[in-house]
Amino acid sequence: MRISVIGCGYLGAVHAAAMASLGHDVVGIDVDEAKVATLSAGKTPFFEPGLADILKAGVDSGRLRFSTSFAAAADARVHFIGVGTPQRKDTGAADLTYVDAAIASLKPYLAPGSLVAGKSTVPVGTAARLTEEIRDTGAHLAWNPEFLREGFAVRDTVDPDRLVYGVTEETGAEDVALLDEVYATILAKGTPRLVMNQPTAELVKISANSFLATKISFINAMAEIAEVTGADVTQLADAIGYDARIGRRFLNAGVGFGGGCLPKDIRAFVARADELGRGESLAFLREIDEINLRRRQRLVDLVVDSFDGQVFGRRVAVLGLAFKPDSDDIRDSPALDVAVRLKGLGAEVVSYDPEAMDNARRMHPQLAYADSLDAAVEGAEAIAIVTEWKQFKELDPADTAGKVSRPFVFDGRNVLDPVAWRDAGWTYTGMGRV
Ligand code: UGA
Repeated sequence: MRISVIGCGYLGAVHAAAMASLGHDVVGIDVDEAKVATLSAGKTPFFEPGLADILKAGVDSGRLRFSTSFAAAADARVHFIGVGTPQRKDTGAADLTYVDAAIASLKPYLAPGSLVAGKSTVPVGTAARLTEEIRDTGAHLAWNPEFLREGFAVRDTVDPDRLVYGVTEETGAEDVALLDEVYATILAKGTPRLVMNQPTAELVKISANSFLATKISFINAMAEIAEVTGADVTQLADAIGYDARIGRRFLNAGVGFGGGCLPKDIRAFVARADELGRGESLAFLREIDEINLRRRQRLVDLVVDSFDGQVFGRRVAVLGLAFKPDSDDIRDSPALDVAVRLKGLGAEVVSYDPEAMDNARRMHPQLAYADSLDAAVEGAEAIAIVTEWKQFKELDPADTAGKVSRPFVFDGRNVLDPVAWRDAGWTYTGMGRV
């Protein structure tokens, strides 16, 4: 099928390449010329395991093209909207500028029988508004939220947990049939496919992210209680996680969640609930946000306290900058935030991240960036692990002790073995761990 994907950021680029890998004829459209040039050359503009292979294969096969011109979408039957919905600085609500611009630019090329399928995370009610906006073209609109995780984006797209179609009563049957054709390969594997109305589909996405954020802040709140009671939050998470109703996943306490989705999505949801006169229903999400932000400062405080309050001029190795491992994304990254806060207090921060240093350097040139993990820890008076990259988790405590000038380790992701590190002479501090 001929498909267009509007917006070639994280979501769009992965979706376009994944759809081509399923055999479709895809054009990705973005207003950013540099991005289109990079993608057209079969190169990925960001780090995402597995993407480079399917992108290159798609481009080489001729089934995947990129363009800055919306005219290239003219003969597509399905147009996926994958543009960003960033946080507005004033209200915290989702900024729909890019979604609206995408629809306005696409509209002249929409024809009866074609379908606009929204993938971006939008405030509930957006799909209904856009359906009206394009009504005179004869094209239909469905909401088809995306649940991919960075680091697993390709797998999540070609092998998702579920497919969700939000359709109207008016055109639903036709739209479902068309989406089923797009996702035929995925559906053939037995992937659950849920059909619902548009507002439900919009809410599915934002409530899923809110639930995940809540799970993380819940366990971080337990870490706060553990800190003053001598309890261990990791053991607690293991024990409650065995209850299948609770589950162990997303119960890792530490410096909390970041990235381009969870933080902005919960704020946008709160703002939307306020607009709908249901602010009280989501008041708890403000707490979720606050707990999350507190944990970054908590780690900073622990480091500072270890220097008796005087961190000025002390050398601190901050290991990790990306908001999570297997990503070079630093949007709202707790790791980068910790580095910047410590630097702001006068510490001599030396950061290292296997993938995110170029992005971090562009945004925070004031930080020092080490060329290697070894160079970062050399002579450090404290090490803070803030992104759980494999190579940090696998650091050898005895070997590392020989490189630092003061063996203090702060485990901001609770991924080290406290016993092994203490046995090697370290003063180990986790987040709510004994
Ligand atoms: C999130 C959702 O997990 C995806 O399902 C969704 O599609 C995506 O947002 C989106 O809306 O596009 P992502 O932002 O890639 O995906 O990252 P997550 O894997 O959810 O991690 C988010 C943050 O939570 C990271 O900073 C991670 O370190 C942190 N986290 C995660 C914890 O602090 N503890 C945990 O137990 C799990």
